[in-house]
Amino acid sequence: MTVTLNGRSQAIQTGERLIDLFNRCEIEVPHVCYHPQLGPIQTCDTCMVEVDGKLVRACGTIAAQGMNVVTSSPRADAAQREAFDRILGNHMLYCTVCDNNNGNCTVHNTTKLLHVEHQKIPFKTKPYEVDMSNPFYRYDPDQCILCGRCVQACQTLEVNETLTINWEDPHPRVLWDGGAPIGESSCVSCGHCVTVCPCNALMEKSMLGEAGYMTALAKPALDGMIDIVKGIEPEIGYGPILQLSEMESHMRESRTRKTKTVCTYCGVGCSFNIWTKDRHVLKVEPSEGAANGVSTCIKGKFGWDYVNSPDRLTKPLIREGDTFRQASWDEALDLVARRFAEIKAATGPDSLAFISSSKCTNEESYLMQKLARAVIGTNNMDNCSRYCQAPATTGLFRTVGYGGDSGSISDMEKAGLVLIVGSNTAESHPVIATRVKRAHKMHGQKLIVADLRENEMAERADVFFRPRPGTDLIWLSAMTRYIFDNGLADQQFIDQWVNQAAEYKKSLDLFTLEMASERCGLPIETLTTVARMIAEAKGVCVLWAMGVTQHSMGSDTSTAISNLLLATGNYMKPGTGAYPLRGHNNVQGASDHGAMPNYFPGYQEVADPAIRSKFEKAWNVSLPPHPGLDNHMMIEAIHEGKLKAMYVFGEEMSLVDSNANFVGDALSKLDFFVMQEIFFSETCRFADVILPATPSLEKEGTFTSTERRIQRLYEVFEPLDGSRPDWIIIQDIANRLGAGWKYEHPSQIYEEVAALTPLMAGVTYERLEGYKTLQWPVAADGSDQPLLYTKQFNFPDGKATFYPVPWSEPTDQQDAEYDLHLNNGRLLEHFHEGNMTYRTEGIREKTPCTFVEVSPELAGERGIQTGSWVQLTSRYGKVRAQAVITARVQGKELYMPMNSTEEPVNRLTSSHTDKATHTPAYKETSVQLRVLGQVGDDPLPGTNSRHGHPTPQRGVEVERKWKRQDYHQPGDHLVQIQTR
Ligand code: SF4
Ligand code: SF4
Ligand code: SF4
Ligand code: FES
Repeated sequence: MTVTLNGRSQAIQTGERLIDLFNRCEIEVPHVCYHPQLGPIQTCDTCMVEVDGKLVRACGTIAAQGMNVVTSSPRADAAQREAFDRILGNHMLYCTVCDNNNGNCTVHNTTKLLHVEHQKIPFKTKPYEVDMSNPFYRYDPDQCILCGRCVQACQTLEVNETLTINWEDPHPRVLWDGGAPIGESSCVSCGHCVTVCPCNALMEKSMLGEAGYMTALAKPALDGMIDIVKGIEPEIGYGPILQLSEMESHMRESRTRKTKTVCTYCGVGCSFNIWTKDRHVLKVEPSEGAANGVSTCIKGKFGWDYVNSPDRLTKPLIREGDTFRQASWDEALDLVARRFAEIKAATGPDSLAFISSSKCTNEESYLMQKLARAVIGTNNMDNCSRYCQAPATTGLFRTVGYGGDSGSISDMEKAGLVLIVGSNTAESHPVIATRVKRAHKMHGQKLIVADLRENEMAERADVFFRPRPGTDLIWLSAMTRYIFDNGLADQQFIDQWVNQAAEYKKSLDLFTLEMASERCGLPIETLTTVARMIAEAKGVCVLWAMGVTQHSMGSDTSTAISNLLLATGNYMKPGTGAYPLRGHNNVQGASDHGAMPNYFPGYQEVADPAIRSKFEKAWNVSLPPHPGLDNHMMIEAIHEGKLKAMYVFGEEMSLVDSNANFVGDALSKLDFFVMQEIFFSETCRFADVILPATPSLEKEGTFTSTERRIQRLYEVFEPLDGSRPDWIIIQDIANRLGAGWKYEHPSQIYEEVAALTPLMAGVTYERLEGYKTLQWPVAADGSDQPLLYTKQFNFPDGKATFYPVPWSEPTDQQDAEYDLHLNNGRLLEHFHEGNMTYRTEGIREKTPCTFVEVSPELAGERGIQTGSWVQLTSRYGKVRAQAVITARVQGKELYMPMNSTEEPVNRLTSSHTDKATHTPAYKETSVQLRVLGQVGDDPLPGTNSRHGHPTPQRGVEVERKWKRQDYHQPGDHLVQIQTR
């Protein structure tokens, strides 16, 4: 298809917007409100062009065959100028003293593009104060041009539905919850609105007074300068004034660094540029990350204060009795190497164990497992996927062959139906949640949520049901049986692609609807409705997390999910598949890179002689043939006296492993314990040597996110004086033990990984440069697989396998003494126990402590109110917390988030585990509750977003602006004048 564009024939793409066509052809047309990731908002009117003689908005017009498009006719030009003049009436140009004068301000750049010399509509202030009530950003109504990008982002991309514009008001402005202070609204501080604001109306507070050379001036001085500029503008025009501000903007370039990094919190894998001035974080700017685009959550956008916290460890510490003394790096490293060698000589290599960090890079996990295997000679090597994701990996290994998400986040967006099981996605994987919320709200995707708790996704779902704890396997299997029994299965897909159908169908005999209804506490109608929705949907993605995996049947329930997907043909196509949502930023990568007791990197079995011999040759050592101990077995082995020494980095083991008291007892029994950390964590208390490491912003390397996406991170800051990147520390220890490693840069480590690991054969730093990414498996030629299983499943015959799974009773059941079920998990604002996030003051202000959610029924029965102090006691320990009464939980269900180092929920959890993987059954915990008598304030302060009242609408609703008496489309009156 072609159009005539400014007199020349131009090919167009199907569905292409005129504004995108202009940008592609590098034809400059102003467009202030348009943002490709938000779609057309049509509020600013600056993109007016002529199409077949009529003025249209280029952002709202799809190019069509034969159109005659003129971008700079006198009419279009006049309309663009008129529209932009109205914008300047809403925005005072004081660029030279503006913190947004960084070369990317849309208002500044459009003033320049249109060569605006004088503004016809004078700037008028609006009758509102600047709102500073959010800890992270501020809104200045006077500078707001009412483009509505922020509203569109909040309503249709983040879908938090906080923002609107009161178009009918004489003085429209952006409103939070219809008119609340930002800090008391439902705003979750995700930062979408701030990121997409085209000017300085919404700004990160960390930028204010910091970004510019003259922006830190006191307000009277600043106002004086602005007045001077405004005074001379009528005489000299904007040209020279803009030139001055551009000089100032160029000067900023020399001191503002913009470095690409990848978020260090959850497994979504958001990437962004971090703007810094010396060691000050000016802002986080997401734009082109493959997983997130402009999206972030509060942690990725604003949670970086921990990096410069005064609590950072900067000196190695060595235990002396009950205290620690500072030591030099040489002394500490010599001691570690000497004690490791002594213990290995005395009690053998298997008396040492190593735990890698899911917060650290792939290269660091690779080196840690190489240290364990090649230098010490043990496979006692694990990472925290043992605490969460190992069961999901097992379920996928059993059925489809790879232990990773079977597609990408974009597939979740495309699916006709998303089923979420045991995942608080909106809080634990916030940016993935935005994609599902957007598809559901804007594109008619169906959403089904199965959870004990009515979390945000459950509130939004088309169907939400609450199975009894630990019974997911039953309803999943019963639905699959119902699908088979009623001819709803995808028989063609099964015949072509799935083995063991007959055996599997037989294994479902037990799972009748009646049995499922009774055991799960669900109406039969719910089961059949959901089964039919799944069978009939155009593409199903199942998202699950720790509500499934942290059970004694975690692997089997994950398997049941994959069986259901196979039965309904929901693999091998875009918009389908299995998505276990990985918790940490690099928990996928830690396992992928060999931090596991039974696998070398790329899931190559340590027990396979051919594989072992490949690594022996490459590393020039002989390697132990038997799989090692996993995390759980390590703790048992310490208690049994078999394990003498441990080396753990970046893992708050004593709080995040279950049955924390038991784990703490074990750690205190070790002969020698090395912790490598950025802070003196709770686990450090048990250590003999503590080595100060660096966080992700102070090193290079790669992370692998939940969608198997490998991404590079670059050094934002130099390592804080005294601390060292983990890969350097691990190498120093290995070399003191005679390893002779010579890695000078993480890229050299990755070259070795790629050479030894077929799954990563084509991964190179060049192919990952900047924002480029690869989703494994990556072939030697660099081709990757965003959608797994396009040609076959990962089994020798290329077929998947139905895998029968039985059901057994959950562990740690309720009885007369321990009569309540305790569920636990994450919170939006904090990551796990909060070692990093509590160090951001704004986060602490919004969510200062842990709490326990109590249902209104139970609260009534026991006389509990929000703020009441209660004590929870399990068979393993006790904690105290304040209650929050909420219908999110029901009946005898309690929920406690993990955000506490003082009263960690894992003092209550047991040592029961998933049978296949030893993942702790965190979610199978029974407790008794004692009301302590004192009642304090609500542990969630008034500034927490939960107290807000969102105002949903379908976007910015520009039609309401167009209905205003004083609105006319720019250029209209010109047409009339000409006609006359
Ligand atoms: S939730 Fe808050 S920070 Fe996020 S887009 Fe909405 S108003 Fe902005
Ligand atoms: S605050 Fe919102 S409406 Fe105002 S200029 Fe920024 S993005 Fe546009
Ligand atoms: S915590 Fe997760 S969702 Fe939030 S910015 Fe980081 S990677 Fe993205
Ligand atoms: S860019 Fe088209 S109306 Fe704003």
